Amino acid sequence: MRIGFFDSGIGGITVLHQALKYLPNEDYIFYADTFHVPYGEKSKEEVREYIFNAVDFIANQGVKALVIACNTATSIAVKDLRKKYDFPVLGIEPAVKPAVHYCEGKQKKVLVLATNLTLKEEKFHNLVKSIDHHDIVESLPLPGLVEFAENFEFREEIVVPYLREKLGSLDLEQYGTIVLGCTHFPYFENSIKKLFPEEVDIISGSIGTAKNLSRILKARNQINDGTGDIVYFKSGYKVEDKNSLSNYKRLLVMLDELQLLSP
Ligand code: SIN
Repeated sequence: MRIGFFDSGIGGITVLHQALKYLPNEDYIFYADTFHVPYGEKSKEEVREYIFNAVDFIANQGVKALVIACNTATSIAVKDLRKKYDFPVLGIEPAVKPAVHYCEGKQKKVLVLATNLTLKEEKFHNLVKSIDHHDIVESLPLPGLVEFAENFEFREEIVVPYLREKLGSLDLEQYGTIVLGCTHFPYFENSIKKLFPEEVDIISGSIGTAKNLSRILKARNQINDGTGDIVYFKSGYKVEDKNSLSNYKRLLVMLDELQLLSP
C-alpha cells in the first residue's frame, strides 16, 4: 500500500522530499488541495471541511499511513483525523522546542514564520506556552510566500523585497533560530538567509516528520519494497499532464539543493 501525503498545495512536497530520503522504497500518493489553497487566510470552519473531504478521498485510494504535510491543516484537524481513520495520521508542527533549547543558552530569540491561521490557533499558543519560559519566541505571518510558491515564483529578486518589507520593523540581529512553520517556506530558504546574520539557523519540522513516519512504519512492520513511485492528485483529480508532472519533479530537484537543518 502507498503512503498518503496531503497539503493545501505544493508545500507538502518539501515534507515528501524528506520522506523519500528516509523511505526511498515506498510508493506515495501526493494530494494537493490546489482549488482551495491558501488555507492560511481562510476561516477554520471552511478549511476543516476541505481537509476532511480531501482526506476521505485519499483514504478511499487505500493508504497505510497519512502525513498531513501542512502546518495549518495539522493545527486545525490532526486530532480529529486520528479519531476518524484507522491508519496512522502524522502531522507537522513548528519546531519550536529545539529552537528554544538552542537559543536560550545563547541569549538569542526565536522567530517562527507561518500562516496567519497556524499562528492564531490554540495548538500553537499551547506549544509556545509549554516551552517558552523566558519569552524568547516571536512570530510573523508570511502569507505572501504561500502565494509565491503556488505561482512557482522563487526568484530572489521578487521574494527578497517582500521579505524585507515584512521583516523591516524587526531587529534581525536578535534571532538565533528561524523556525519555518509552514511547509511552503523551505523553498525560500536562500532568500530568507539573505536577510539574517550568517550564523542564524533555519529549521523546519519536515525532517522530524519523515523520521517519525519511518519509525512508525518499522514498528508496524509495514516497510515496503517499492520504487519511490509518486501518484499526484489535485483536489480530487489525478494529475496526468506532462507540464504539471515535470513541475513537481522540478520542485524535488530544487529541494535537493537546499540544506535545511534537522531540529
Ligand atoms: C496555506 O495553504 O496557507 C499554507 C498551509 C501551510 O502549509 O501551513
